[in-house]
Amino acid sequence: MSFDLDRARRETSGCENRIHFNNAGAALMPTPVVDAMTAHIKREAEIGGYEAQAEAEAAGRLDIHGAAARFLNAGHKEIALAESATRAWDMAFYGAVAGLGLKAGDRILTCSAEYASTQIAFLQVAKRCGVEIVPVPDNETGQISLKHLEAMIDQRTRLISLTHVPTNCGLVNPAESVGEIARKAGIPYFLDACQSAGQLPLDVKAIGCDVLTFTGRKYLRAPRGTGILYVRADFLERIEPPFLDLHAAPLKTADTYEIRPDARRFESWETNIAARAGLKSALDYAMDWDVAAIAERIEKLASQLRQGLEAIPGIKIHDQGKVLCGIVGFSHTRHDPEKIRTELAREGVNIHISYPASTWTDSALRNLPPLLRASVHYYNSETEIERFLNLLEGMTGKG
Ligand SMILES: Cc1ncc(COP(=O)(O)O)c(C=O)c1O
Repeated sequence: MSFDLDRARRETSGCENRIHFNNAGAALMPTPVVDAMTAHIKREAEIGGYEAQAEAEAAGRLDIHGAAARFLNAGHKEIALAESATRAWDMAFYGAVAGLGLKAGDRILTCSAEYASTQIAFLQVAKRCGVEIVPVPDNETGQISLKHLEAMIDQRTRLISLTHVPTNCGLVNPAESVGEIARKAGIPYFLDACQSAGQLPLDVKAIGCDVLTFTGRKYLRAPRGTGILYVRADFLERIEPPFLDLHAAPLKTADTYEIRPDARRFESWETNIAARAGLKSALDYAMDWDVAAIAERIEKLASQLRQGLEAIPGIKIHDQGKVLCGIVGFSHTRHDPEKIRTELAREGVNIHISYPASTWTDSALRNLPPLLRASVHYYNSETEIERFLNLLEGMTGKG
């Protein structure tokens, strides 16, 4: 399949000045997203915030729920917006703890790749109500072991939580197979798709999850401060938002309120509307490119990157799993990661360092050092990868 790299780079102004390999941190926004946000901010200044919102709503520029529903193959009423993936996930998780009545002795089955914030929420709930958090072991490839997952499910299991792609490396967990197991056992299933949304196709019906969350700023290329929560319609009634406001649950009398019937019960009224206009534009933009074509392009670039890294003496790649994505985690046997990152930044190359505390279980199990994380997107070029590899070889070859 041919990929229109010229268009991708033309519509990504950040490509002109930097080699941006920190797409798993926050990707470069494309021009239409920047335009949507700045146009909205301008209108807020010109006619007022409420008035600009009404104007944008009438023009369909704020139908984010509709766009996100198309993006995920979900229903409009199954989408809620938040300011981050963590808050989106928290709303559903703390809502499930209360709604499902989790208590001492109940178990949440999770995976070694969970993100720190998720684990922190687990620990808080474990401390509060005695729920046990049990990570399912990985199989020999490094993915969650489906065999162990199936064997570990029993009457104590109340929730299954999976991270699709971890923060620190290229692993892709088998989200659909976990969904199949969860459905068969009738156990609620949460999927953290923060690192996969925008780089891998996501279809909530095919995955079979009850809850799915992601952030806008990463592979989706939306602005910072945006997050999306999907809650399956049937599951919605079983969980109650931990916080309510007049948007989530309008007052009916002085003493009564009514929680909204849709997933917007997890939202708050006040928000950054310009960022939401950017989020809507980013969802439309990703669908215009076709996420399957994006995934294919990213996979090609990431394998070029991995092959090149393997050839540099002293570099060790830490990606594991049968299926790999555009995030490449590596270290050098002798060189300090912070020094490498700083030197690359001086040369106009952005990468990130993923510290063990961000994915504690995986890092502890594999005894991982702080990892250099290079994450490529479809607008990156083969030439950029070559330049990056040459720079890295030059820096680390110096002894
Ligand atoms: C796997 C994973 N889950 C969740 C998050 C949290 O996303 P946010 O920062 O939008 O809350 C991250 C952020 O890096 C992540 O890597």
